[in-house]
Parts: sequence; structure tokens; C-alpha cells
Amino acid sequence: MTSEQDSSFIGDVGRFYSGNTDLWTSIGSHFKTPETYLHEFQLRYPEVSIRFELKRRGLNFANNKARPVHRWTDYLEGFSDSFVYDTMDDFGLGKDSVILDPFTGSGTVNVCSMMRGIESVGIEINPTIFRVLKAKTAWEISPEEIRNTMKSLDFTKETSIDPPVFMKTDRQFRPDVLQIILRIKEQVQQIERPDLRIYFELAFMTVLLPCSNLKRSPSIGYDKKKETAVHVRLPVELFETKVGQIIEDIEQVQRIQGELPPCHIYNEDSMEFAIPAEHTVDAVITSPPYLNSFDYVGNYKLEIGWMEDAQSTADFRELRDRMILCDNVSRKMIQEYEEQPDLFDLDWVTYVTRATRPRMRERLGIRRKDYHILIRKYFEDIYRVLCRIHDSMRPGGKVAWVVGDSLILDVYIPTDLITMMVAEKAGFRPMGIEIDRVRRSGIRRSFVLRESIVYFTR
Ligand SMILES: C[S@@+](CC[C@H](N)C(=O)[O-])C[C@H]1O[C@@H](n2cnc3c(N)ncnc32)[C@H](O)[C@@H]1O
Repeated sequence: MTSEQDSSFIGDVGRFYSGNTDLWTSIGSHFKTPETYLHEFQLRYPEVSIRFELKRRGLNFANNKARPVHRWTDYLEGFSDSFVYDTMDDFGLGKDSVILDPFTGSGTVNVCSMMRGIESVGIEINPTIFRVLKAKTAWEISPEEIRNTMKSLDFTKETSIDPPVFMKTDRQFRPDVLQIILRIKEQVQQIERPDLRIYFELAFMTVLLPCSNLKRSPSIGYDKKKETAVHVRLPVELFETKVGQIIEDIEQVQRIQGELPPCHIYNEDSMEFAIPAEHTVDAVITSPPYLNSFDYVGNYKLEIGWMEDAQSTADFRELRDRMILCDNVSRKMIQEYEEQPDLFDLDWVTYVTRATRPRMRERLGIRRKDYHILIRKYFEDIYRVLCRIHDSMRPGGKVAWVVGDSLILDVYIPTDLITMMVAEKAGFRPMGIEIDRVRRSGIRRSFVLRESIVYFTR
């Protein structure tokens, strides 16, 4: 890095974090600040460029809402198709490449790959999100068959099925609206052909939240205002609109698309799953869960419960405990984890885990006292996935890893920088970091956090 680049980098750091300085003093934190970490990182890795390129990539999923196929679901935690296309271009990927997303979620990477005629692999642990992914990557169906199936559904028929018993359905839905939702569910369940049923299941899932008394922004909670706004015709209206959108988009992609590239999707755990040897991966474009309190199971419990992918709250817990960690995982699992030997030794992980210990003692009424283990487990989970990816990639293959940093108990955690170090432990060579978005900490709204793209190569 030249001295010119260096000074612009330092200037950007100052500007970016200027609002944090007073706050840091008022928190009374004597731990390392985001600026300190960035400077130390530069000293350790002088060859790795760190650029402030705010909004250059437009990471936000909101950009997908008008795009064919992407628009079928509203997955707030997803990233944008434009980011994926830009990265494909930067990495020089073409029709002979294979792209992997080990946290494929609603399938942005797979759908973009299909649009470009590129083979892709996607892994997603959540069985309900996997249903979405299955539908969004199945483009060979006849739109006429979806249309005819839609015509055969009868929502005037009384239903005998029950809502999921373990959920608070009475609070979540108005009784008249609930009856219609049950009718839609029963009609969808009765579609015999699984290759057709997947689109209707997806449409059904998208109806649940807007017809409930809940909102997701981004965490799920009750919305008092909605009780009066939802009306009894809404479920069928939304369902029909969604199926109409699916038909329209399938017609469009079939018109413009030549031969479809292979898209291999797996409902598996990326920490464990050995990617089959026949897919030698050229590039990874992905975004894992961040180290924070975002609970992918709790926030999608409506869809998971109604699709019967969980039969009890114990099933929710079991799924949550298997995922890359959020701070809602069970204490029992973490207690067992504590007994395990460390997977690797990294001074910054040791530093942040130690820094949280006094905070847990000092703070009254905090939810849990095991944050030091949670933080270690998060980076070890990520390490496990990175080792799997490393095994599946060809030498020279590149990775773009989108991740946000965190503030836990007023201890700042540079998740992007630590991820780069963990990637190095897993055998990758660090390339660069692009800071693309400003975020706000959930607990201290005025604290500036960032969202970065971490680049490394096999
Ligand atoms: C940030 S989201 C990815 C969103 C995706 N980029 C998109 O555009 O829809 C992270 C995803 O990782 C999944 N996940 C968490 N732990 C996992 C694991 N161990 N194996 C595979 N997927 C996992 C979550 O269910 C979630 O869908």
C-alpha cells in the first residue's frame, strides 16, 4: 500500500468514527476501539487493502424487491443481486465457473448464477428457508400447470385442519382470518405433485406475516395497528397475487434463458457438510449470520411452525442450537461447548472474550453470563465452515464474505477483521476489506458499526 493510500485510509477512519469518540468515553470503555483495531490490522497485514467504499455495492436486499424471482420472498437478511453480479464480474466468473454460497438463505447467489448461466451450489440449514430456495431455483415447470393448479383450488370449502398447537395462534391471528389461512393451507397440502406444490407452499408462507398481528422489523413482534388493518379477504388476495407473480417470472426467465445451468442445493449444516467432490468451487459469495442477537429461528417461527418443520418449541431450540450461533442459543448447549478444547489460538478472540468477563459481572440484570463462550463459539463455527469451503475450492479461487461487526456488553468486536484472521487459519490468503455500509448498534443506537466485504483467496 502506498503512503498516499495510507493517509486517505486514516482520514476515512477518523471521519467514519467521529461520532463514536464521545460515546466511547461515556461508556467508560478502556477496551480497544474500532479505530485501534483497524490501525493494528494494517500494521499486521500491510499488504491487505482496507477501503471505505460506502454504498458502492448496494448490499441491501431491498434492492431485490422488484427483480424477477428474487421478489418472491422478502428475506431481510439477504443481500442484493447487484452486489452478486458485481462480484461475479470482479472475480472474472463465467459459464465454466462454479459458485458456492454456504449460507444461501433465500438463494440470491443461486438465482443470480442461474440468470447468468453459471453452475452453483447452495447450502442452507433451515428447512423452511430451504423450501423457498427449492422453489426459487426450479424454473423448468410449465407455467400453464401452475395456472391450472391455481384454478383448481377452492378456498370456500370448510376446513378440518388445525393451526400449529404449540404456537400462540389465537394472539397472532384474528379468528376469521385464521379460518381462511387454514383453508389455503389445506388446499396447498392437497396438491399431489411435489414439483408443483413447492410454488404454492412458498406463496402460502408469504401470506402468513402480513395477515397476522405481527411485524418483522427486523425482529418479530406484535403490531397493535395491524389488527384492524387486516381483513378477511387479504389472505386469498395476497396468495393469488404471489402465484400470479411466480407464473409471470417463470414465463419471463423461460423466454430469455437458454439451457439452464446446474444448481445443486443442500439442506445441510455448512459446518459439517462435505461438499461433494464433483463440484470444484471457483468462488464463494456469501454472508453468514452476524455475531449478534438476531435469531433466525425466532424471527421466522411463523413460517417454520406453519410449514410443520418444527412440531414444538423444543424443535425450534434444536434448530437454533445447530445454526451459526446467535445469543439466543440454549445455555445447556453452551455449557457442553465450554468443555471442548479451543479449535485455534487467536489473540484478538482471546482479547474480546476476556474483555466481556468483567462486563458480565458489573452489569445488573443481563440476560446471560456466558458471552465469552458465545463469542469463541461464533468464530469457531465460522472456522469450521471455512475449512469445509477450503477443501472444496480450487487453488486461486476467491471468496467474498459479507459480515457486520458488533458491540456486545460495550465491548467492540471487529468481526470482519477477525474473520480474515480466521480465514488465514483455515488456509486462505487475505486479500482486502471493503467497508460498504454504516449500521447502528441495536443496544446503543448512536454507536456506529459497519458492514464489510472481506475478500480472501484459496
Ligand atoms: C445472512 S443469511 C444469508 C442470506 C442470503 N445471502 C440471501 O440473500 O438470502 C444467513 C443464512 O445462513 C443460514 N445458516 C445459519 N447457520 C447455518 C449453517 N450451520 N449451515 C448452513 N446455513 C446456515 C441461516 O439460516 C440464514 O438463512
